Amino acid sequence: MLNLEKILTHYDPVTGELPGAIMVKRHLSDLRGCFADTPAYDAALAAGNPLLYTVAAVEPAVDEGDLHYGVGMLMPGKIGDEYFMTKGHLHSWRPAAEFYFGLTGEGLMLFEDEATGESRIVPLRPNGVVYVPGHTAHRTMNVGETPLTYLGVYPARAGHDYSTIAKKNFRFVVVERNGQPAMIGRK
Ligand code: PA5
Ligand code: MN
Repeated sequence: MLNLEKILTHYDPVTGELPGAIMVKRHLSDLRGCFADTPAYDAALAAGNPLLYTVAAVEPAVDEGDLHYGVGMLMPGKIGDEYFMTKGHLHSWRPAAEFYFGLTGEGLMLFEDEATGESRIVPLRPNGVVYVPGHTAHRTMNVGETPLTYLGVYPARAGHDYSTIAKKNFRFVVVERNGQPAMIGRK
């Protein structure tokens, strides 16, 4: 079985691959509904369907006390003023928290508390750690010029719930304003 020690020796920072892990690839077409600027999204999709991110996930069937983990690689780029982003999710087991460890690049995470809707952005940088509380929808954006890579570690029983976010979406989007990321209300 793969373990954390093998991430440190076998993770390929160019391809984002981790031998033995399940590789998920998300293209622009997989993020329909995520970007607030629909005309910009449709125009970008008509021009091509770029790879936005990959996740190499290690999720063996284990005891629920164990940990699962994934290495994400999110490309730089924007749709209109919105940075390339992940789909975002809640954990199926809502109390599950998660640690993100920044590896390369310059990222931001968008958090939204499911009960209150309270939202905030948190930097995700190399050698930085971000704690994602339970009951919190989270999405990652690449706000830099190079690929953003990070390691996410979460309880084995966490699970990924995409449908709740897909139905109502995050209340805020992160856009570039005067060369800086800014969190603004979704129109
Ligand atoms: O488990 C996590 O939170 C991460 O590994 C994410 O799966 C990764 O960032 C990709 O995002 P999403 O699952 O929202 O597509
Ligand atoms: Mn998660």
